[in-house]
Amino acid sequence: MVVTAGAAGEPRSVTILGSTGSVGTQTVDLVARDPERFPVVALTANRNVALLAEQARRLRARLAVVADPSVYAELKDLLSGTGIEVAAGAEAVAAAAEQPADWVMAAIVGAAGLEPTLAAVRRGAIVAFANKEVLVCAGALMMEEVAAHGATLLPVDSEHSAIYQVFDFDRIDSVARLILTASGGPFRTRDRAFMAAATREQAVAHPTWDMGAKISVDSATMMNKGLELIEAHFLFAIPEERIDVLVHPQSVIHSLVEYVDGSVLAQLGTPDMRTPIAYALGWPGRIATPAQRLDLAKAASLTFEAPDPDRFPALRLARAALQSGGGAPTILSAANEVAVQAFLDRRIGFLDIERIVEETLTALPHRPLRDLAAVREADAEARRNAAARVMAVGATAVGSR
Ligand SMILES: NC(=O)c1ccc[n+]([C@@H]2O[C@H](COP(=O)([O-])OP(=O)(O)OC[C@H]3O[C@@H](n4cnc5c(N)ncnc54)[C@H](OP(=O)(O)O)[C@@H]3O)[C@@H](O)[C@H]2O)c1
Repeated sequence: MVVTAGAAGEPRSVTILGSTGSVGTQTVDLVARDPERFPVVALTANRNVALLAEQARRLRARLAVVADPSVYAELKDLLSGTGIEVAAGAEAVAAAAEQPADWVMAAIVGAAGLEPTLAAVRRGAIVAFANKEVLVCAGALMMEEVAAHGATLLPVDSEHSAIYQVFDFDRIDSVARLILTASGGPFRTRDRAFMAAATREQAVAHPTWDMGAKISVDSATMMNKGLELIEAHFLFAIPEERIDVLVHPQSVIHSLVEYVDGSVLAQLGTPDMRTPIAYALGWPGRIATPAQRLDLAKAASLTFEAPDPDRFPALRLARAALQSGGGAPTILSAANEVAVQAFLDRRIGFLDIERIVEETLTALPHRPLRDLAAVREADAEARRNAAARVMAVGATAVGSR
């Protein structure tokens, strides 16, 4: 079934990659409110078979896929007698994205989302794009594929969704600057001594957004804003030096675009991911959500401050990687994934994350990325290099974390 992009209110079949995660479950929540309009083709997860099976039954999905083959039998059992097709393995996740759904939510975490997102792009689908690591590790190649296959990439990150909604794509020359807002994360007011001893629990306790573990830690280091800066550069074709970051702890203004005449346009709302997800799901129309309404009279105050580069060096690392170009952002993102996972596993300290990313970026050559094979190679090399650095930390005592 092909649905015209402009046909607001008409059925739109959907596939949700990463349906069991934070963005995935919120997408399921919206889709389940209007199952007639949003029939589900495929749902995918890594290994959370219990939730995946429950979602597949509830949404009457045609296909449910797990990336981890070791849980295939369990998923098959849970869905036996339903007629829902079951598959497992990384290739099966990419094959799920190839199924003819009009709209695909890319909400896998990390570079594992590259192949499935690409599979959806290559068949010209509307891709709701949350999985920022994919654009960081292969931005230029990804945008070339989007153009070559006539796919539509709709940003789901709240900041990029905000920019998308106020960005003048017909007159890009009139855009002076993008301003990405940042909550500042749980350590916004903390010093480096506090961060050195920070636990996993403290790092994932985000003040305004309820998100998956990896992005929560990225928010605490502010690497998340660095990844978003790179994402914005590729999505909107704006050079790095014209993308600024502004700390705004209340997360009400989701980002801003400054035009050459001095006008600044912004998108506002309460911090609820269902709003940007719904924007992509209903695009080019809008659909209702249960998100709490913004009441500016009740909002005590909206405050702003510049990010502190000394306490949060990850932003500088991301900028430097984008300036360096080639495989540098790929290395940055891969090393960060390895380091964040090691921190979540309590194998390294919080400040080891940025150190491991910086050392990996310094140690490896920033080769040009001519094709996806080069992306995979740079990604794998960075993961090996960063993992060795994690091992070196592991030799010291981290038992108290
Ligand atoms: N959460 C937010 O509010 C938010 C906001 C903006 C952008 N984002 C971005 O959206 C993406 C998803 O974030 P999230 O917070 O939703 O993450 P999450 O809660 O950790 O969920 C990740 C999803 O990806 C699946 N997954 C993990 N590893 C996989 C693999 N190797 N292969 C296939 N699937 C895999 C997980 O399955 P299991 O459940 O089985 O592990 C889960 O469904 C990230 O790139 C993040 O930066 C998130």
